[in-house]
Amino acid sequence: MSKDKVYIFDTTLRDGEQVPGCKLDTKQKLVIAQRLDSLGVDVIEAGFPISSPGDFASVKEIARVVKNATVCGLTRSVKKDIEVAAEALQPAKRPRIHTGIGTSDSHIKYKFNSTREKIMERAVDAVKYAKSFVEDVEFYAEDAGRTENEFLARICEEVIKAGATVLNIPDTTGYCLPEEYGAKMKYLRENVRGIEKAILSCHCHNDLGLATANSISGVINGARQIECTINGIGERAGNTSLEEVVMILRQHPYLNLDTGINSKLLYSTSQMVSEKMGMPVQPNKAIVGSNAFAHSSGIHQDGVIKKRETYEIIDPHEVGVDHSSIVLTARSGRAALAYRAKKIGYELTKVQLDVVYEEFLRFADRKKEILDEDIHQIVESADVNIESLA
Ligand code: KIV
Ligand code: ZN
Repeated sequence: MSKDKVYIFDTTLRDGEQVPGCKLDTKQKLVIAQRLDSLGVDVIEAGFPISSPGDFASVKEIARVVKNATVCGLTRSVKKDIEVAAEALQPAKRPRIHTGIGTSDSHIKYKFNSTREKIMERAVDAVKYAKSFVEDVEFYAEDAGRTENEFLARICEEVIKAGATVLNIPDTTGYCLPEEYGAKMKYLRENVRGIEKAILSCHCHNDLGLATANSISGVINGARQIECTINGIGERAGNTSLEEVVMILRQHPYLNLDTGINSKLLYSTSQMVSEKMGMPVQPNKAIVGSNAFAHSSGIHQDGVIKKRETYEIIDPHEVGVDHSSIVLTARSGRAALAYRAKKIGYELTKVQLDVVYEEFLRFADRKKEILDEDIHQIVESADVNIESLA
């Protein structure tokens, strides 16, 4: 059975770049945009064109060079924003305007000092205006995660009538639980007239560490686009991480959902974004962290050496990492030591291994990680008659 397509909307260059200290210049953005295009993302949110002349120029340049993906620009529900975005997107093969407004009672009252009816009117006017420039218009209901479902459904219905092709349901504050976010998508699918004319999109923030779980819950409940960033970078605690959702859908084929992303480019893309933004990837980051395929406890190492799948659910080659690593620490066992010693040329008998292992433990208690050069020293000081194969 063919799988349902989940569109990947990458916002590394817009929501991701909002992170303090991660500002990129146009040249850097272009390199990342071209890499995202090769990765196979469906939409690249290139920036917020009205926000600065630099962002305008970047969106325009990205629109000019990107070959396959739709190129998208963010706007508020403000005419001038939409005009400027339309101008920046002009060279794009597939342009999309992403417009919207806050829909939660808190945003309506405190941000806009307005009413639901007036917000609805602004939303509809913005979509109609954007539609006068481009065919593909995505509407975001900012803070949808805390917006009452009934009102959210009404506003979705009206913006679809106005021509919106995609409905973005952001959990802007990262507040929702996965069940709640999934139920919201289900509610919209069941209660918005004309919903079949639009794609529901997940846009989740990670304030409670639930961005990925919420996005997956969203697609299980009928959304067909996920908005995400490389390394999960983004406002505050970040956005949904692209590499995580891609690999979750890949690793759970019974969900029958596929993104079409070239996963072999995930690791190098993560490194590229980290390096250009000057934002290190945390070592324990899922999929792309330096420890994601490293094994250091004796029990795990023994299992992985016997059969990789015992402790690894992803083949590292699938995400562009060339091998799993066996890290030697004081928690490692004989199997790991023998494995690493063999790799650098020492074929140890059982008796020899027992002696070398005692020496290894003394060494490892003084040092966090044992490297290949340490193994040479350990073997030499273990005083066993070893014929080096090196
Ligand atoms: O988090 C959010 O609500 C956003 C919108 C502007 C799409 O980033
Ligand atoms: Zn966001």
